[in-house]
Amino acid sequence: MKVMVVGGGGREHAIIKKLKESREISVLYALPGNAGMAGDAVCVPIGAKDIDGIVAFAQKEGIDYAVVAPDDPLVLGAVDRLNEVGVPCFGPNAAAAVIEGSKIFSKNLMKKYGIPTASYETFESAGAAIAYLKEKNTFPAVIKADGLALGKGVTIAGSLEEAVEAVNAMMCDRVFGESGAKVVIEEFLTGPEVSVLAFTDGETVKPMVSSMDHKRARDGDEGPNTGGMGTVAPNPFYTEETAKECMEKIFLPTVRAMKREGRPFRGCLYFGLMLTPDGPKVIEYNCRFGDPETQVVLPLLKSDLFTVMKAVTEGRLAETDVEFSSDSACCVVVASSGYPTSYQTGYPLTVPKDTTRDFTFVAGAKTDGEGRTVSAGGRVVGVTSVRQTLAEAVSAAYERVKKVGLENGYYRKDVGKRALEVGKNKG
Ligand code: AMP
Ligand code: GLY
Repeated sequence: MKVMVVGGGGREHAIIKKLKESREISVLYALPGNAGMAGDAVCVPIGAKDIDGIVAFAQKEGIDYAVVAPDDPLVLGAVDRLNEVGVPCFGPNAAAAVIEGSKIFSKNLMKKYGIPTASYETFESAGAAIAYLKEKNTFPAVIKADGLALGKGVTIAGSLEEAVEAVNAMMCDRVFGESGAKVVIEEFLTGPEVSVLAFTDGETVKPMVSSMDHKRARDGDEGPNTGGMGTVAPNPFYTEETAKECMEKIFLPTVRAMKREGRPFRGCLYFGLMLTPDGPKVIEYNCRFGDPETQVVLPLLKSDLFTVMKAVTEGRLAETDVEFSSDSACCVVVASSGYPTSYQTGYPLTVPKDTTRDFTFVAGAKTDGEGRTVSAGGRVVGVTSVRQTLAEAVSAAYERVKKVGLENGYYRKDVGKRALEVGKNKG
């Protein structure tokens, strides 16, 4: 079968490497992919938001199955358009992708169906939002742009001044474009964060192994929020008991709610959870695989990814095994110095070769005029190691990251540290 993966980052490279294990697939295309994954898929220079280009390519090449990985094309309806021309897809249609595309939609859904989340108010004008902040006067305040904002649409404001600034930036200056036309202001929650990606066909939900992201740029969770600087799986805060509670109170109710709303969700539903003193609550939903979560979760998947994906598309997930290894994984991301604020690209990049337990996922690379592979993004590569214990996986990943050649690269030195501390306390 001819399969195409839409997207071009580390997550897509992890999906592609896993799909390569499937004997059913004869050719894999990446749209657009990047130069660092050219050995694993045929990269086609069509952007992930170019829906017309994606559909035309699928028709011309006779693509048998498509995996739409990033949020933008999902929210823009890439799956609807591909289905119209007869290409089955992994990923939700636009009606279901709204669970990530609109925070107001997802907050209202949770309220309506009693799914635990931070209490909130929504606003359509800066004046009303600011009046509310002044009257409420409790800080930190959490301010979220309604629409997609490259993962930067959340501000935790410590003071009224900062909160007003965030509202004005989103609603008046439109720093996120139309995504900031409406905002949600919600209660500030505390507790460890857990990412759970789950396969769902609209009826059945099968969660993958849990993971922990490291969102801040610098060690000790300091510095600005990034797309994610590293991950570990499983997440030691996520006990079996918590998993059971999440299934009953969050995962199943969400999938049922989407179905009842006439928006059955088929694909990978990402639950961003906070384990608060009052129990697990939803911080956010994403309509797709998380990045870099996917770079630790998929290397632990024992089942054939393509078989599971097709079962999701065809509504057969209940009868399909989704098995994970009991090992642990750690991913360390190497980013361009200065990321996420301002950074330079175009530096020569060399990466270590994969072994059976160690992987390199390239997020941002291109071929320069001299034919060299050079960096081409903020996050450049993720290196992942899988070992029997988390401690071993963390030290293996840090050995491996030394073999990444990128002159202006930087990485966090403490990925997995917090997870290892919890693990120890639990004995
Ligand atoms: P997001 O971009 O939605 O992933 O949010 C970025 C980060 O903001 C999350 O990972 C949390 O650490 C934090 N955050 C979001 N909502 C809340 C909240 N209600 N209370 C505390 N922290 C939050
Ligand atoms: N790592 C967070 C995300 O994929 O949104």
